[in-house]
This record gives sequence, C-alpha cells and structure tokens, in this order.
Amino acid sequence: MTTKEQLLALLDQNRGKFISGEEIASMLNVSRGAVWKAIKSLQTEGYQIDAVTNKGYCLAENTDLLSEPVLRKYLSERASNLHVEVYKQLSSTNDAVKERVPQGFSDERVILAEYQTRGRGRKNRDFFSPEGTGIYFSLLLHPKISVSDSTLITTAAAVAVAQVIEKFSGELAQIKWVNDVFLRGRKVAGILTEAGISLETGGLDYVIVGIGINIYEPEGGFPESLAHVATAIFDHREEKRNVRNYLAAEVINQFIDYCDRLPNRAFLEDYRKRSLVIGKDIMVLGKEDRKARALDIDDACHLKVRYENGEEETLYGGDISIGL
Ligand code: BTN
Repeated sequence: MTTKEQLLALLDQNRGKFISGEEIASMLNVSRGAVWKAIKSLQTEGYQIDAVTNKGYCLAENTDLLSEPVLRKYLSERASNLHVEVYKQLSSTNDAVKERVPQGFSDERVILAEYQTRGRGRKNRDFFSPEGTGIYFSLLLHPKISVSDSTLITTAAAVAVAQVIEKFSGELAQIKWVNDVFLRGRKVAGILTEAGISLETGGLDYVIVGIGINIYEPEGGFPESLAHVATAIFDHREEKRNVRNYLAAEVINQFIDYCDRLPNRAFLEDYRKRSLVIGKDIMVLGKEDRKARALDIDDACHLKVRYENGEEETLYGGDISIGL
C-alpha cells in the first residue's frame, strides 16, 4: 500500500477523531512532510479531511467515497483475490474492463468508478451514473461454464444485488426478469453482462458483469425521464453515510460465492421468490408487442409465458414490460 492508501485506512479507522501529524508520521513510518503531501492529495480527490492546528487531521464522519483499502477491508477471503481498481471518473466501467482483456488480464478483477460519463445499459441504453449518488462497478471473471448457462451469471448477480439492497434498505427488493432490481416499485439497480467466447473451446472465455446501484437520490431528484421509474436506496432526506465501500464489497462477496457454485443454482429459489413477473400479465416486447401471462422461470432462468391465444413460449432473453 502507498502512504496515501495507508493514511486513508488510518483516518477511516478513526473517523470523526483528530490524529496529529506527528502520530500519523510515526505510525506510517514516514516524515511529517510526506503526511502533509498525502493529506493534500486526498483532499484534492474529494475526501473531506479537516486540518486543525495543534489537533491534526480528521476524516469527516459522513464521507462516502469509494476507496480501495476501505473496500478491501470488507471483502471476503475468497474475494480478496480480486485485483481492485478505483477511479473517480470513467466513461464506463464495463468498457474499462474490456480494454484490459486483450492486454492479457486473465485474473479476476473489479473496476469501480465514482461516476461514469457514458454509463451503458442493456440494448445500448444510457445508464444514469452521476457523481456521489450511486456505485458503478464491473467484475471480470472467468467461470468455467457453457455459453448456454451464461444467463445464470446475470441472474446470480441480480439476486446478490437484491439481497444486499434489502439488507441496507430494510425493504423488499424484487427482480424484474432478467436483471433489473426494483425497490418500492421502481428500478434501483441494473446489471449489464457482456461475455467473450473462446474460439478454441466454444466455452466462455470471460464475462464482464457491470452493476449500477442508486444509493442516494440525486439532489433535486432524478432527471425528468427517470423521475417516475427510478429510485434509490436512501431518499433525499437522509444524510450521506459511509456505506458505499461496504455495500459494494457485500455484493461482490455474495456474487462471487454464487458464481463459484453456479451449477448448483443456489440463488434460483430466491430469484423466483423475488420475481416481479411470475403470475403477472406482461407485454413481451419485440417487433410486435404481445400480451402474455408470465408462468414460471425455469432452471436455466428462462421465462415461460402463455400468449392470449394459448400458445406457450420460453423466452431466452429480450424485453418485457409489466404494469406495476
Ligand atoms: C441496465 O439497466 O440496462 C443495465 C445497467 C448497467 C449499468 C452498469 S454501471 C457499471 C457498468 N458500467 C456500465 O457502463 N454499465 C454497467
């Protein structure tokens, strides 16, 4: 760890308390000048660190910035093998991971950003990713599964995200097939999975699982186009708290655990329980939208539907809408 990372970890452990420059210097075994330089650099990155003569430095209690050392603190033993990269701004964390794949990164890694300038959703839609209100991250994994089982990865991610959102919000989080997570009837998180196929084996070479979660409602609310369809875990009346590193780590831990046991589909029962669609009248969107009844989700996470004319179909992907 660099001096800056060690300093951040130390300030984080002592949130709300002042530690003198002298104490920090001796704990990190560096000069006071090096401490001062690292403090300045953290402040420039946006960390709210108060500096008071004769008292020292103090990280504000309500700081909620992503940081590698703090995130690492919460990773499970299994997930601690991940290579972690945190950025203030990226165009898209999925794109950042994708750029690294041809460079021969065969490890597992996660890239997180405070905000994205071109966050992407499914079907080339934009994903609203402003600074300070959500978490945006992408995992690079190399699961040994067939291409036909790849939907399971997205489903496992949706369950992990829903469980963690429920833990933090105290409210039921549901899933709209395939992978949108809903809270209080509105979308709170989205998942974009992209895969590379090995030409040699025909199996999956890698998957990139991009996850975006709205943590706080943006000041002034969501933009008009999202105002009636999006929500956040905490509403605008709530103070920011220090949760994003912990929340991201919890999702990563749970998701990696499910991925390691993908063939046993440990998450499937919970996926069905959280389903917003099973038993509902839906619209299957396509060239021509068709009314249908969602019957069930099979063991491959495909959606079985019955159309108005009695014809049944299993949907492997695509878009549906439901009147919520
Ligand atoms: C959707 O709602 O259609 C999926 C949204 C996925 C958004 C996440 S945010 C992190 C990662 N980077 C992106 O550009 N997209 C995904």
